[in-house]
Amino acid sequence: MNSPVMQGLNLNTPSYVKNARLIAWVADMAALCKPESIYWCDGSEEEYDALCAQLVEAGTFRKLDPVKRPNSYLACSDPNDVARVEDRTFICSQKKEDAGPTNNWMAPAEMRATLAPLFDGCMRGRTMYVVPFSMGPLGSHISHIGIELTDSAYVAVNQKIMTRMGKAVYDVLGVNGEFVPCMHTVGAPLQSGQQDVKWPCNKTKYIVHYPETREIWSYGSGYGGNALLGKKCFALRIASTMGRDQGWLAEHMLILGVTNPQGKKYHVAAAFPSACGKTNFAMLIPPKGFEGWKVTTIGDDIAWIKPQSDGRMYAINPEAGYFGVAPGTNTQTNPNCMASLDKNVIFTNVALTDDGDVWWEGMGPAPAHLTDWQGKDWTPELAKETGAKAAHPNARFTVAAINNPALDSAWDDADGVPIDAFIFGGRRSTTVPLVTEARNWMEGVYMAATMGSETTAAAAGQQGVVRRDPFAMLPFCGYNMSDYFQHWLDLEHKLEASGHTLPKIFCVNWFRKGEDGKFVWPGYGENMRVLKWMIDRIEGQSAGHEHLFGLSPAYEDINWTGLEFSPAQFKTVTSIDNEAWQKELQLHTELFQQLAYHLPRELSETKAEIEKRLAA
Ligand code: GTP
Ligand code: SPV
Ligand code: MN
Repeated sequence: MNSPVMQGLNLNTPSYVKNARLIAWVADMAALCKPESIYWCDGSEEEYDALCAQLVEAGTFRKLDPVKRPNSYLACSDPNDVARVEDRTFICSQKKEDAGPTNNWMAPAEMRATLAPLFDGCMRGRTMYVVPFSMGPLGSHISHIGIELTDSAYVAVNQKIMTRMGKAVYDVLGVNGEFVPCMHTVGAPLQSGQQDVKWPCNKTKYIVHYPETREIWSYGSGYGGNALLGKKCFALRIASTMGRDQGWLAEHMLILGVTNPQGKKYHVAAAFPSACGKTNFAMLIPPKGFEGWKVTTIGDDIAWIKPQSDGRMYAINPEAGYFGVAPGTNTQTNPNCMASLDKNVIFTNVALTDDGDVWWEGMGPAPAHLTDWQGKDWTPELAKETGAKAAHPNARFTVAAINNPALDSAWDDADGVPIDAFIFGGRRSTTVPLVTEARNWMEGVYMAATMGSETTAAAAGQQGVVRRDPFAMLPFCGYNMSDYFQHWLDLEHKLEASGHTLPKIFCVNWFRKGEDGKFVWPGYGENMRVLKWMIDRIEGQSAGHEHLFGLSPAYEDINWTGLEFSPAQFKTVTSIDNEAWQKELQLHTELFQQLAYHLPRELSETKAEIEKRLAA
C-alpha cells in the first residue's frame, strides 16, 4: 500500500480541520505526490513573514529596501515561465462539444492517465502547502471555497494576498462543506541532497480543468494564472460552468463605482482582454473638467454576477488583491495604482535598482544602471542598442485590495453592487470606434461575441496579431463558447420576464492609432470622458447617433473641458470605414463558422442585418 503513513509521512492535520472529504483528499494527494512534509497554511501575518523569509533564504525572493519599499519583495522567474500557457490549458469535459472549438480538450480518462505519472512523486524533497481560500467574502452566499495543494511557497504567499486565505475558511467549510480541489505542482522534485533552483518549474506544462467534477490540476509552472489557481482556473473557467448550470455569470471584468457631483452612484462592469486596461480603468482618477466626480474600485479582473430578486444584476469581486501588469504603470497613467504599490507588495519579473527598489518600462526616467529581470546588467544605452527590456513585458505586482486608495466601500459586501452598464473593449489600432452603445441586449451580445483584440504579453505566444476574443473570455471560458453566448442571451429573457430594465451594453476601443503609429486617444484618466457619456445615456441626457451597428457620440456630446482634443482627432478615433467593416464582418463570418455548433441563430441574424445596412 502506498499510504502516506506507510511512507512515514505525518499529515499533521490541525485539530480545527474537520472536513472528512478534505482530509481524505490531502492524504490521497500526499500519497501520490510524495512530499517530504505537509504544511497547513493558517493565513496569519506571522506565517506570511516566515514564508517570505524562507523564500529570501532560497533565493526566490529578494527583499527590497525597507525604507523605499517597506515589506516588499522581488521574485524573478525562470525565463521559460513568464505568462499563462494557453496552448497547454485544457478543458476536460466528458464530451468534446462541451469544451467547444476554442478550448483544448482531452477525454478526462485520457488526461488522468497522462497526468498520473507526472504527479507521481512530483513533490519529492519539497513541502506540500495546504492553502484554504474563499473566492468572495467569507461565508457569503455568493462565495465558493477552494483548497490549493501546492509545492510552491511563492504560490502560498501570493494566495494570501489574492484571496481570503486562512484558517477561517475551515469554519465555513465545516464537516460537510464543498470545496474545489486545486492541485498544483511546479513539477520539479528534488533528489536527496539536490540543490534547489531559485524558480523551479518544468518544461512540460499542463493546466487542466475537469468541469463536471470541478477539479483543477496544474503541472509545471509557478507563474500567475497558471499557478494561483483561485484566479483564472477557478474564478473563471470552473465558475463559468457553475454559472451556466446555476444561472449566473463569471466574467473577465473589472467592477467600478462612479459617483457624480450630486452624489448619485452608478456601477459598471467592463471586460477587456488581458493587459488591455482593466486595472487602469478600475482605478481611474477623473481628469480636469470632472470636478466632483469620483471613481472607486470594486474589482480589477474578475466579476461574479448574479441576477437578484429585485430584477437587477449584482456583481462581486471574488478576489482580494490585484495581480496587475507593471510595465506602463506610472504616477501619470495610474496614480492610484502607484500609491497601492508603496508597501506590502510582491513584484515578479520587474528590474531591480542599485538602491534596492524596483523599476519597469514606462515607470519614469530610467536609472543609469539596473539589474534586469533575468539578473543581468542593464543600462539605458544598452536598451537603445539592443532593445533589451529591464522588466519582462508581462512583469506583475501582487498587492492587497486594501492598499488601493480608491477602494470602494462596498468592495467586500457579500451582496455585491448593482450593475448599470456592461462595457466591452478590445485593443484595435484600426476599425473599431472609441465608443458604441448597443441599441438592445442582442446587439450588445453581438458586439461582445465578435470582439477582436491584438494579442499581448499576458500569454505566451505571438504578440500584436488580431484574434477574436469573445467577451474577453477566449482563454477563460470553461465550456462551449456558443453555449456561453446562449447563456447571455437567455439572461435577457429571464430578467425581462421579471419586468426589469437590463444594464446597457457599450463597446469601447482606447487603442486606435494614427498614421504616425501612435495612440490618438489619450486614454487612462481621460477615459472618464467616455464613461460620462455612457452615464448621460443611461440618464437619457445625451445624444447618440445611429450608425451601422449602434449609437456613438458626436464631438459635441462629450465634455472636453481640460483636454485639447480636436474634432479631427475625434474623427480619427470614431470614424467607421465601410471597406474595413466589410473585411471585419468577413472575420465575424469566420468566427461564426468556427462556432457553428450551438451558435445562437440570433447572432447570425444580427450579422445579416449589419451586412444589409453596410450594403445599402
Ligand atoms: P490583466 O491583468 O492581464 O487581465 O490586464 P488588465 O486588463 O488589467 O490590464 P492593465 O490595466 O494592467 O493594462 C495593461 C497595459 O495597458 C498597460 O501597459 C497600460 O499602460 C495599458 N493601458 C491601460 N489603459 C490604457 C489606455 O487607456 N490607453 C492606452 N493607450 N493604454 C492603456
Ligand atoms: C490575465 O492574463 O488576464 C491576468 C493575469 O489577469 S494571470 O493571472 O496570469 O492570468
Ligand atoms: Mn485578467
